[in-house]
Amino acid sequence: MEEVTYQGLTFEPYIKRDEIAAQVQRLAGEIKRDYADEAPLFLCVLNGSFIFAADLFRACDIHDAEITFVRFKSYQGMASTGQVEQVMGLTEDIAGRHVLIVEDIIDSGVTAHALRNELAKCNPASVKMVSLLFKPAALEVGSGPEYVGFEIPSKFILGYGLDLDGLARNLPDIYVLKQDKE
Ligand code: IMP
Ligand code: MG
Repeated sequence: MEEVTYQGLTFEPYIKRDEIAAQVQRLAGEIKRDYADEAPLFLCVLNGSFIFAADLFRACDIHDAEITFVRFKSYQGMASTGQVEQVMGLTEDIAGRHVLIVEDIIDSGVTAHALRNELAKCNPASVKMVSLLFKPAALEVGSGPEYVGFEIPSKFILGYGLDLDGLARNLPDIYVLKQDKE
């Protein structure tokens, strides 16, 4: 794996695709065990989560599972704006449903907190969250995800769905900003 460059910034290999795949399998095992009899509704938070959600949804292999999508935007460049903009809302009726929010990464927690508050108004049977990545030191509001792939330090990363202003989502591995690397 080589370094990659976006917008004049250099990123180094951080989490390889086989490590990601192993965590996706582990998470899928836990979710399958907890939701096998629940007909869960996976709620993929676009855009960043689409690749993780596709891999996780298939790996879970729950017969009565469904998936739907919402879209939020809070990041600009390499920092959270602190404001969550709902670009595409929920169209399904989630009353009585077991909802599993699928996130790529929890950073400040602002997006997750806003989404949980919105969902709570719709009387779901339960709401839990799975996030591939979690930066615990950056969390400002709410609690962390119930299911976590990797806990990482507060560094800027990209690849496997995560972007820098829309770029780098198609990298199969995850990279970290070079000067941010430990
Ligand atoms: P939060 O609201 O601060 O928790 O951030 C939520 C969203 O910001 C995530 O779902 C990502 O889309 C984006 N984000 C947070 N950290 C990173 C990062 O290191 N790289 C790329 N996107 C990130
Ligand atoms: Mg996201």
